[in-house]
Amino acid sequence: MPAAGRGERLGPGAPKALRELGGVPLLVHAVRALARSRAVGLVVVAAPADGVAEVVGLLDSHGLDGKDVRVVAGGATRQESVRLGLAAIPADVEIVLVHDAARPLVPVEVVDAVAAAVRAGAEAVVPAVPLADTVKRVEPNRGGPEPVLDTPDRATLRAVQTPQGFRRETLAEVHEKALTEEAAGGLPPVTDDAGLVERFGGRVVVVPGHEEAFKVTRPLDLVLAEAVLARRRASDGY
Ligand code: C5P
Repeated sequence: MPAAGRGERLGPGAPKALRELGGVPLLVHAVRALARSRAVGLVVVAAPADGVAEVVGLLDSHGLDGKDVRVVAGGATRQESVRLGLAAIPADVEIVLVHDAARPLVPVEVVDAVAAAVRAGAEAVVPAVPLADTVKRVEPNRGGPEPVLDTPDRATLRAVQTPQGFRRETLAEVHEKALTEEAAGGLPPVTDDAGLVERFGGRVVVVPGHEEAFKVTRPLDLVLAEAVLARRRASDGY
């Protein structure tokens, strides 16, 4: 679980994973959401490098369903945080899910479905949902008018969520290759792990995601997350 981002788009304050939702840090919600799945035996958290002790303390003080949780120092990019987390996973683990700490409310059905698809033979699996908005590709021009290049057919587009599931070998291999390429002045970091598998010619499949697996990025997302959490607590003792 990469959890080392600063969360600058959320406004000033603590690192994003430590912001609270219903009185509990986002990170704790996200770890619990994964731990709820019977497919998950161990959760490795990549914490902000200067916040490892704080994260260990937080996780100790919240009940986590008896699952094994380890904390490592994350890196300067999401990709580096994932690579560092992966290095802390025991050698006999064959299936790895990568989940953003910023998606605290992912339903357990999504976690189970991703793990099941990898177990069934896929090397890389991403949960995704159709888009509500039409999407345009533009020539970026911050703040100014941006010329539109084209409009992809919305029916073929999906918004991708996490957890993304991988054969461990596949994920480790593409992260190693990416590191070598970057050192050689190659390509920029990707924004999701499946993107690395695609970059190196692997096959990625999509399974249905869930609207409540949204990423808490901007202040409005926190308002929405509070509402979803309040509804769950009122209706099913979440
Ligand atoms: O920035 P973004 O919202 O794409 O971040 C997605 C996830 O990656 C978050 O859970 C964030 O904490 C994590 N991340 C990280 N290390 C970084 C940057 C982001 O673990 N250096």
